[in-house]
Amino acid sequence: MTDPPASDVVALRVPRIDVATDPVHADDPPRDPLALAASWLPGEGEERALVTLSTVDEEGFPRARTVMLTEFDGERFFFHTDAASRKVRELSLNPRVALTVLWPGFTHQLVVQGTAAVAEEDEIARAYADRSDYLRQLAWLNTAEYARQPRARRERQWAAFAAANPHPAQPDGWIGYAVRPRRMLFWTSHPAAASRRLEYMRDDGGRWICRHLPG
Ligand SMILES: Cc1cc2nc3c(=O)[nH]c(=O)nc-3n(C[C@H](O)[C@H](O)[C@H](O)COP(=O)(O)O)c2cc1C
Repeated sequence: MTDPPASDVVALRVPRIDVATDPVHADDPPRDPLALAASWLPGEGEERALVTLSTVDEEGFPRARTVMLTEFDGERFFFHTDAASRKVRELSLNPRVALTVLWPGFTHQLVVQGTAAVAEEDEIARAYADRSDYLRQLAWLNTAEYARQPRARRERQWAAFAAANPHPAQPDGWIGYAVRPRRMLFWTSHPAAASRRLEYMRDDGGRWICRHLPG
């Protein structure tokens, strides 16, 4: 198996929990789940998180896959993908999604339910500009036709494309989505007591209602 280029390997820092000061373990939970998510997720210049994106397929079954959480802007969660992919077809029929982020060390889990909308063009272009050359090449070559080729042909085609296009421009079929949360669930571990879950649900007036859940 070939390892991916080192620059594309993503790993979150292993967070420590001090239960005495951790906001999820606090008796008085934080009011703003968006700020809490921002304090958990990687900031500018840090490795990006991987997230399990769950959509609903045409038959009503959930379908999940890993994508990179390209950005969290304090309100919306962004990911980017191929416009011809199954997830995009599913999102066009049903934009309701779940996002699950698990931190290394299993100390934190964040689950978001929300609605995905196609991101603005400038947001998509900015995310593309931030990608490595490997991921830009992937955005061009990741087609059904390419996937059907035998390995030797796939490698030749990749090498020829990469030689001719060391920094390929954004392809038409590359798209981004922004997920606006309606429910956010924060899970944190405890070394000597039950793990703790805080669930926030946005009411019709846009206010976040918080409750504790077991599990
Ligand atoms: C670590 C990792 C990161 C990935 N990041 C992305 C990504 O950011 N965007 C994407 O479209 N696919 C990404 N993939 C591939 C997806 O998991 C998935 O196979 C692909 O998007 C096709 O999914 P679909 O057929 O459900 O649309 C990633 C896979 C892995 C294992």
